[in-house]
Amino acid sequence: MIAGTTYTVRHTELKNWVQEMASLCKPVHIHWCDGSKEEYDSLTEQLVQKGTFIRLDPNKRPNSFACFSDPSDVARVEDRTFICSRKKEDAGPTNNWVDPREMKQTLQKLMEGCMEGRTMYVIPFSMGPVGSPISKIGIEITDSEYVVVNMHIMTRVGKRVMDILGADGEYVKCVHTVGAPLKPGQQEARWPCNPTTKYIVHYPEERSIYSYGSGYGGNALLGKKCFALRIASAMAHEQGWLAEHMLILGVEGPDKEKSYVAAAFPSACGKTNFAMLIPPNGFDGWRVTTVGDDIAWIKPGEDGKLYAINPEAGYFGVAPGTNLKSNPNAMKTIEKNTIFTNVAVTPDGDVWWEGMTKEPPKGLIDWRGLPWDPSSGKPAAHPNARFTAPAYQCPSIDKDWENPKGVPVSAFIFGGRRSTTIPLIYQAHNWNYGVYLAATMGSETTAAAFGEVGKVRRDPFAMLPFCGYNMADYFNHWLQFGRDIANPPRIFGVNWFRKDENGNFMWPGFGDNMRVLKWVVEKIKGKSNAVESPIGWMPHYNDLDWTGLEFSKAQFDKIMLIDREQWKTELLDHAELFERMYDRLPKEFIFMRELLLSSLWRSPEKWRLQGEVY
Ligand code: GTP
Ligand code: SPV
Ligand code: MN
Repeated sequence: MIAGTTYTVRHTELKNWVQEMASLCKPVHIHWCDGSKEEYDSLTEQLVQKGTFIRLDPNKRPNSFACFSDPSDVARVEDRTFICSRKKEDAGPTNNWVDPREMKQTLQKLMEGCMEGRTMYVIPFSMGPVGSPISKIGIEITDSEYVVVNMHIMTRVGKRVMDILGADGEYVKCVHTVGAPLKPGQQEARWPCNPTTKYIVHYPEERSIYSYGSGYGGNALLGKKCFALRIASAMAHEQGWLAEHMLILGVEGPDKEKSYVAAAFPSACGKTNFAMLIPPNGFDGWRVTTVGDDIAWIKPGEDGKLYAINPEAGYFGVAPGTNLKSNPNAMKTIEKNTIFTNVAVTPDGDVWWEGMTKEPPKGLIDWRGLPWDPSSGKPAAHPNARFTAPAYQCPSIDKDWENPKGVPVSAFIFGGRRSTTIPLIYQAHNWNYGVYLAATMGSETTAAAFGEVGKVRRDPFAMLPFCGYNMADYFNHWLQFGRDIANPPRIFGVNWFRKDENGNFMWPGFGDNMRVLKWVVEKIKGKSNAVESPIGWMPHYNDLDWTGLEFSKAQFDKIMLIDREQWKTELLDHAELFERMYDRLPKEFIFMRELLLSSLWRSPEKWRLQGEVY
């Protein structure tokens, strides 16, 4: 036994590494996490004592907590995120890069004594079901109790992971510090972090992660974006699989046949909502089940199909906009055992956020911890406020969500947040065009990342902030991947966010997205019709099921419109993206862009669905 363990650690290299980190960071204690309920309860209680957590009313939200972060620490920090591959070209033009030798010196200085006055927690965690051949183990070292309890929910933590790791198993090294040492006598902050210095650093060749200065979400829960996307995508590139920013859902129709779909949308663009969709009234016999809401690891199976697992065990979901109408399954998932970050708190010990109810309750405490003034024009909950909740609590959870084999994926859907240009739904002609569609996806930026909101940027595959290697190599990997499988999934593009001239969403969204999803799953079975448009295959008005919704042919024509002027701008943006990564860009993309341009020029300036129905 070594200091701070309740179990035996047989892994010598791991013990040495932990000791080495402890000598550098100089914590007061070392605590090896066992993943037990007792550990969770004692740490949440400690967070309550420190003033970080507010225990919510046990009748209204059993075993749940709210907390407010430092205003400097509310989202992922993309400009402070680095892929430190040995060669700059391997990080590529879309990632920040610093020479790993230089970065290590910088971090070494910062981390010297960074855990003074704090406990260093060692968290053994598994991404994917414990012991499954596709799962991967990480060890996160952190000085944040908030991180430990969130990791308990988001991943599988504890002794059982250490048992699998054994004496010499492989793991990803994840080091996290809030970067706020406590000097003797110094007052503890409610949300310790470093308000001025933040680094989220990845060494893809070494498979290690170092995170300094932030305690929030993807910056600090290192199993999520840092490991399961950035490091895993680099591993997947080498090993012939995919690590994607995708939800995974199952769709069952009245015939009880089940199809699985994986869908990539950028941060705060509807993955959780889509993954937990409840079909509208009138869709009798239709059901959507949830495998994952944020990350998919996808591997080819021996039968030539693709199999996907959700490496996570919980949801770190966007709170604002979530309500009983938009996402009843999420509302049920967060009824208990949930941690709320940066939501507003009601005087009776419950939570609230914009969009939860029409009228805000009186006497709210806002996410800054102050009485909220509704007339201030400022939101009560931060726009990137989040809930952390266990996946098994989701009423729509798929029975195979922990199946170590994964679930077979038969379609990929890609969708950005676009006020203009992109139609509600279209299908790529083939795999290559699908990869093109995904690679050139644009989206308006959201509050999920620190910085300007609402600006269109190219976000290839919704992976711009998460690809751990050269984005052009990633495109090539996808192109090759499709060629290597017998029957690759079909690829679709969607846009729930197109707006009319008054700035209102043209599509009701949420449960009504089922209408599009139904067309997709029937299309892959050859059961639904489509017409050929300049950009791909599209449903005719009558090809979508309109049961229970008044949505006229005129409205449909408008949301499906392909406007040449808008597409010209779009294709100029594609060219700009390609120029940025010309060096390793798949050259097919240049010709595919030309083909798209010419098909737009050969079609009416405003192309409406009026083609032949097949
Ligand atoms: P990350 O967790 O950041 O990766 O995001 P996510 O893609 O899971 O986002 P989420 O599902 O939580 O979406 C959050 C935002 O999208 C909220 O503001 C929702 O109201 C909005 N949203 C989700 N689905 C729809 C939709 O179908 N239509 C419209 N208009 N808004 C939607
Ligand atoms: C995202 O931003 O895509 C998230 C939230 O899923 S975070 O884990 O903070 O990155
Ligand atoms: Mn995400």
